Amino acid sequence: MQISFKKQQLTEVKDELLCVAVLQNLEFPKELSELTKTLRKEEFEGKVGQAVTLTTLGKLSFKKLLLYGLGEEKDFNLDFVRRFAGTAIRVAIGMKSDNISIALPKTKGVSPSDFAQAIVEASTVANYKCIKFKSKKDDYFEVKQITVVGTEDVSVAVQKGFILGTAQNYVRDNNENPANIATPQKLAELAQILSKEKGFAIEVLGKEEMKKKGMNAILGVNQGSPLPPVMVLMEYNKDKKNLPLYSVVGKGITFDSGGISIKPAKGMQEMKYDKTGAITTLGIMKAVAELKLQIRLIGAFTATENMPSGTAQRPGDIVTSYNGKTIEVLNTDAEGRLILADTLAYVAERKPEYMIDLATLTGAIIVALGRFRIGLFSNDDKLAIAIFDAGEHTFERVWRMPLDQEYSDMDKGDFADVKNIGSESGDAGSITAACFLKEFIGETKWAHLDIAAVDAVEKHPYLDKGASGIGLRLVVETLERLAKK
Ligand code: BES
Ligand code: ZN
Ligand code: ZN
Repeated sequence: MQISFKKQQLTEVKDELLCVAVLQNLEFPKELSELTKTLRKEEFEGKVGQAVTLTTLGKLSFKKLLLYGLGEEKDFNLDFVRRFAGTAIRVAIGMKSDNISIALPKTKGVSPSDFAQAIVEASTVANYKCIKFKSKKDDYFEVKQITVVGTEDVSVAVQKGFILGTAQNYVRDNNENPANIATPQKLAELAQILSKEKGFAIEVLGKEEMKKKGMNAILGVNQGSPLPPVMVLMEYNKDKKNLPLYSVVGKGITFDSGGISIKPAKGMQEMKYDKTGAITTLGIMKAVAELKLQIRLIGAFTATENMPSGTAQRPGDIVTSYNGKTIEVLNTDAEGRLILADTLAYVAERKPEYMIDLATLTGAIIVALGRFRIGLFSNDDKLAIAIFDAGEHTFERVWRMPLDQEYSDMDKGDFADVKNIGSESGDAGSITAACFLKEFIGETKWAHLDIAAVDAVEKHPYLDKGASGIGLRLVVETLERLAKK
């Protein structure tokens, strides 16, 4: 797929489909009045999400016009424009149109660049569908050329939107790989390929190095699997010591069966997405390098399966983690926090100014927030505010949750320092999980994003069913905001 910007009047568009978004109760673009004058109010009045397709019958240089409603100006949200672009791509795919033009909308308070970036992000992700495992690919159609049309030059924003949309698709495509394909070793190879391509420094720790370093929390989770674990640390701009150092850490459970505390069979296949944090970390590194952000960035993850077997970790086992704290493993299904314990402690030694982790950590976050907001936990207000604002802007929204001492107290162990579940009943399950992570970050300014509810989507205005890649645009936008301050 190609995306470009063209300075053009709407009447000059020669593609099969021109897509135009309009606010409710405002006039349609004058150039299109020949077509739109026949529209009755009942057919289309610009209500948010409303869409009609009109045939131009040779009266204009393009064949079809898609009109999309953005609703009233007072209720406007930039994500309506992403949904417009998503609809444009779906209509084009339905018509089997190879090339389409999308007009830049106009409303007060939003720059043409923000519009262009949002349109390109959403059209890039809407044009992706995972077909690599289908033996017949014929019924699949993809739009080949998308042209953003407007009167102000927004080529830079178009390029930026394309980098972000493509990185999000990279996350979706890799995260869709099931556990028999995406083994821990495969994730390490993916990191090696990316690092070579982008010039990152890279460190890969295998099982033996982990044993030497005392990363027993990871090794405990791994011991039920025949596949060895890996820890990967990539670094962007490693030698530019004058730039601020940030870090992103991802949970990479390639399959979470629960281990001996085994999960119910129903829906267990979804646990191939338990590596979302790790894959998103790779996508973030890719986007940050392509956008040439003026920061240093460590992207780290640990990957392993969580499997039951005769050698698997048992409930009640006690392990000593990398930072020396002892952990009672009361539930082997609370494994994400165990592998993150060692990984966060290891990355914290590098003394990054900020550390952000992404983890499909708890089912409880779906109970707390549903699927519309990511759980945010942070020990630093400035970082939390940057993430919150980035969430509103990218529409990958977050909601901040507490980290009070009382919740940390729930994690205190009877026999070891901490236990890996806060209570048998699951009270405050996401919060006690976040408080557990906090035991391993030292003094680092840190934020934890519990992305369990958004790793994959069923129905979405611009994403096909499956791995979502949600979280990538949020974190890249956050890093940009932190670097500016
Ligand atoms: N990977 C799961 C969390 C999860 C649940 C992700 C649903 C996506 C969708 C995590 O490892 C887990 O199993 N958590 C347990 C914790 C419990 C044992 C304290 C959970 O949420 O049930
Ligand atoms: Zn689990
Ligand atoms: Zn898990």
